[in-house]
Amino acid sequence: MTALKDKKILLGITGGIAAYKSAELTRLLRKSSADVRVVMTEAATHFVTPLTFQALSGNPVSTSLLDADAEAAMGHIHLARWADLILVAPATADFMAKLRMGMASDLLSTLCLASESPIALAPAMNQGMWLNKATQDNRSQLEQRSIKLWGPASGEQACGETGLGRMVEPQTLLEEVKQFFAPETMKGLSVLIDAGPTQEPIDPVRYISNRSSGKMGYAIADAAKKAGAKVCLVSGPVALAAPSVDEFVAVKSAAEMAEAVLNRAEEVDIFIAAAAVADYRPAVLAKKKIKKNADETILAMEKTEDILASVSALKRRPFCVGFAAETDSVESYARGKLEAKKLDMIAANKVGGAEGGFESDDNALHLFWNGGEQLLKMAPKTLLADQLINIIAEKQNENSI
Ligand code: PMT
Repeated sequence: MTALKDKKILLGITGGIAAYKSAELTRLLRKSSADVRVVMTEAATHFVTPLTFQALSGNPVSTSLLDADAEAAMGHIHLARWADLILVAPATADFMAKLRMGMASDLLSTLCLASESPIALAPAMNQGMWLNKATQDNRSQLEQRSIKLWGPASGEQACGETGLGRMVEPQTLLEEVKQFFAPETMKGLSVLIDAGPTQEPIDPVRYISNRSSGKMGYAIADAAKKAGAKVCLVSGPVALAAPSVDEFVAVKSAAEMAEAVLNRAEEVDIFIAAAAVADYRPAVLAKKKIKKNADETILAMEKTEDILASVSALKRRPFCVGFAAETDSVESYARGKLEAKKLDMIAANKVGGAEGGFESDDNALHLFWNGGEQLLKMAPKTLLADQLINIIAEKQNENSI
């Protein structure tokens, strides 16, 4: 278990009940051979003692700017420069607000302000606090400063409420850390991704669409970028901020998406079709708003172009990865699409259930290719996207040899 050998991780712990989970995180990081130094806020020490983290990390724990002994062992500025990654887990709403404002009111916030190391946060708070506009504004500002947010997860909370705000589990955070240090598996490759839903107009005020949020496709675009690829993201209408990719193309209808994708597909190495493209569109676009005079109405529909099948049929075709969104018989439908569209890989996900699929932050994927398959179990879409990108890179590389 040496995946994190020589990696220096400064683990910040702030005052939330999830602090107890960080003891397990410290153990997992150490087991993967990371060098871990823990910095706790005063509030965090009320939940778990510094001694616990000292025993688990094998290093003294720092809690105060004014601790002469700790400063003598490793001064706070030295500590700020020492880290390859600062991970604050749990990160409370209060800490996120401090970080956003650039405050230096305790040792941990001072370290973050003084450091040039990358920073990742694992937020943990009551679901109402997470959804509050102030926290969401802080989150968006922090992300714009390239501070990573791993989580929060959804579920039952210590306060008895249910919703988004739980700290991501230690094992998942360990995977995020490993992924953060992973080599760039797509360096030199260009990747085209489509994401989100399409909107098929009925008349000037109505359209047909679906529940895709774009989260899966956007996470894949981020992951491909992190893996060193040149990324173009063609996106249907979603509520997400555009990720920092090399080219971003906003489209609405299946026809616009097809045009944007097919104009670029021959120039790229890999095409990943994560979009939920409408299979049918209204055959006629009414010029004026349709009146509700009749008790019943029938809308004639025609098939849209199958973008993925068209890309796969190109003479100079990229490595093609499709998705299959199924409510039942997931494997057999996915295998059918792999064959019918002559794909290199298909990622099947179950939709319409309580967990994963459309809109959710989490998902599970079952990958199929000719002669192989792999299950990626339920995890945040961001983490799943990293795993998917690494597998695609490996398979594309095998195909191109
Ligand atoms: O966006 P999220 O809320 O995060 O949800 C993610 C997701 C569930 C949308 C995503 O993981 C997913 O499964 N995307 C594909 C959805 C879909 O349309 O699946 P399908 O089984 O109907 O289509 C099979 C494949 O053909 C897909 O790769 C699709 O992009 C592609 N297709 C389909 C129709 C069409 N006209 N053109 C296409 O390219």
